[in-house]
Amino acid sequence: MATARSVTLKAASTSLWSLNRSSPKAKTVRALSTIMSPPSKAVVYEHHGPPDTVTRMIELSPVEVKENQVCVKMLAAPINPSDINRVYPVRPQVPAVGGYEGVGEVYSVGSAVKGLSPGDLVIPSPLSSGLFFAPFDRLLLFCFECLKFKIGTWQTYVVKDHDTWHKISKDSPIEYAATITVNPLTALRMLEDFTTLTAGDSVVQNGATSIVGQCVIQLARYRGIHSINIIRDRAGSDTVKEKLKALGADEVFTESQLEVKNVKSLLSNIPGPALGLNCVGGNAASLVLKFLRQGGTMVTYGGMSKKPITVPISCFIFKDLSLKGFWVQKWLTADRTKECREMVDYLLRLAQEGKLKYEMELVPFGKFHTALDKALGKHGSQPKQVIKF
Ligand SMILES: NC(=O)c1ccc[n+]([C@@H]2O[C@H](COP(=O)([O-])OP(=O)(O)OC[C@H]3O[C@@H](n4cnc5c(N)ncnc54)[C@H](OP(=O)(O)O)[C@@H]3O)[C@@H](O)[C@H]2O)c1
Repeated sequence: MATARSVTLKAASTSLWSLNRSSPKAKTVRALSTIMSPPSKAVVYEHHGPPDTVTRMIELSPVEVKENQVCVKMLAAPINPSDINRVYPVRPQVPAVGGYEGVGEVYSVGSAVKGLSPGDLVIPSPLSSGLFFAPFDRLLLFCFECLKFKIGTWQTYVVKDHDTWHKISKDSPIEYAATITVNPLTALRMLEDFTTLTAGDSVVQNGATSIVGQCVIQLARYRGIHSINIIRDRAGSDTVKEKLKALGADEVFTESQLEVKNVKSLLSNIPGPALGLNCVGGNAASLVLKFLRQGGTMVTYGGMSKKPITVPISCFIFKDLSLKGFWVQKWLTADRTKECREMVDYLLRLAQEGKLKYEMELVPFGKFHTALDKALGKHGSQPKQVIKF
């Protein structure tokens, strides 16, 4: 990997090469001051639409690394549902580079940058990688913030302001560093923020095979909290159940197994859950509601089935259930910068120690569109697709 000096020299020699064709005076100034990024390859979209038809890979020219900026060589970036499901209230302005999370290595830094050096491992700071929450009457400002802060991690080199990046331990496993912010953080917050759970309690969730679901199982288990997990019916569901149980799941049911009058009779020695997590909607959400105990809360954070939630009246009148929602972007506000970075570091430490695991498939950047098709569900259930640059 290039060091600071070699990068600077490389940049300087690029400038000299180009300046052989210009005046001697300009040559001196540019050779001393300009650092350029290498050319980059990026997956971009120029219109909003189905991701497999609007995205394409293009070459981007080198750009100047200004004094407060850092050029990062991307190492890995996932394709998340939030990158490809078009349900979010605000979309980046086009044209845009896709990708939201990722990890990279600092390649070169601008002259005024402190605290980051070539070779450091960085992720987009959780507070800068995405959309800042703002009321809709401030939509214009909101879009401006999106433009300013959206990283676009599906590219080989990214140049952004130094405060866009969060330095992480060099020992962090690359594929976990690339995926730690959105899903594991969401799992952690949802276990913390809605009910007080103590050892011996339980939680029920659908979408248990998702990364969020796998993290919920493990983070709950560390606290002695039981998890009841619902998965889609599929060929090989027994293997999936075994995998989730190996992560710490207490119970795993397919949706069809829960077509019984009293789902709670299926539980052995687990108390009725006070917290339910809904990743899917539709029938899978109704199943979560069936498990919840009196006064329980269901938190919806995803809508993978794209179907609405139907709630029996009895859930409100007799069971007094509460329905809430969670959006990690709304949770990430500037006054939580420190807390948020500490949580990311905590989750990365768990991953490094092998205490937090989830299934991923690493795919070379050149095969981006194959990975995209898998992420879009065209080939059935697939592990999280993580692009390796
Ligand atoms: N609100 C927030 O702040 C927040 C934060 C993070 C994630 N999320 C959301 O959480 C969800 C999971 O994200 P992830 O990255 O963890 O997922 P992931 O690892 O990419 O896995 C996708 C999950 O969705 C399921 N799925 C796919 N298509 C489905 C369908 N048509 N019907 C029902 N289930 C389907 C898959 O089940 P199979 O194994 O059966 O294929 C799998 O469990 C997404 O909706 C995402 O947008 C929300």
